[in-house]
Amino acid sequence: MLLRTEPRIRESEVTDKSLWLDRRRFLALGAAGAVAASAWPARSAPLAGLVKSPYRVDETPTSLKDVTHYNNFYEFGTDKSDPAQMAPSYFGKPPKPWMVTVSGECGKPGSVSYDDLIKPHALEERIYRLRCVEAWSMVIPWVGVPLAEVLKRFEPNSKAKYVEFTTLVDPDRFPGQRVAMLDWPYVEGLRLDEAMHPLALLAVGLYGEELLPQNGAPIRLVVPWKYGFKSIKSIVGIRFADKPVRTTWMKAGPREYGYYANVNPQVDHPRWSQASERRIGEFRRRETLPFNGYAEQVAGLYSGMDLAVNF
Ligand code: MTE
Repeated sequence: MLLRTEPRIRESEVTDKSLWLDRRRFLALGAAGAVAASAWPARSAPLAGLVKSPYRVDETPTSLKDVTHYNNFYEFGTDKSDPAQMAPSYFGKPPKPWMVTVSGECGKPGSVSYDDLIKPHALEERIYRLRCVEAWSMVIPWVGVPLAEVLKRFEPNSKAKYVEFTTLVDPDRFPGQRVAMLDWPYVEGLRLDEAMHPLALLAVGLYGEELLPQNGAPIRLVVPWKYGFKSIKSIVGIRFADKPVRTTWMKAGPREYGYYANVNPQVDHPRWSQASERRIGEFRRRETLPFNGYAEQVAGLYSGMDLAVNF
């Protein structure tokens, strides 16, 4: 990888020290199991019948190579290159049928297959900015369906105020889960009104093709106004809740990672500034925009809130 695409902040600064140290143990595991990465095609299956959504930023998309080879997916390891390297041998293709369990405060709980969840909706292509809490960013042409449309089908009731999302637990497929780097499963949450916002997307592809495992195949969340860690990958659980969800990163570092995690250049991470970002593939840093440039659409969700306290 080119030097300019390497993080300027060391991994040890970004990750809790205990997690970072665990990586040594993890690497020992990975070395034992990793086989040729070429076993998985660089490209995935094309998705047909895409509708071009008006939600598209007028900025050059990050290269497919970087989008699929510079990843955060701790289930595969903590290095940016681990997900693309580990996924072919461990994850392979997403198991079929991929089932998602919908539970909690709703009228129609149950287990649904990927097809039943996604197929009733038109697939949209949306070009969004992605801003990681580590101060790097990308522009990604996602393919997906509006999260709100999917959630409504399960008829959330009047007690449903939050939505919890859970990633698959399968240490055979996710070697990172053999090590207690994080409290598995990876869990994320949104307030119900955030989840119902038209920008929130349930993504199944990018660059016109199905998601590769390293990007969260076969279904992941994309919440473009929040730091990337909210955009949970490889989802198997959706739960409507009456109370806020205790998320993985809040458990790992409550001082550092808040529930809302809205992109906010004025609230620094305790260990680094959030005022600017490094767009992958670019040389100069860019200013970070409030709500990652989506303030006009989403700021109203937080009116009256102190976003330095509710970070
Ligand atoms: N989801 C799971 N299950 N595990 C993870 O480690 N990392 C998050 C998020 N979703 C993560 C996850 C972080 S920190 C970021 S920045 C984005 O995924 C990165 O998405 P990308 O690798 O597709 O760019």
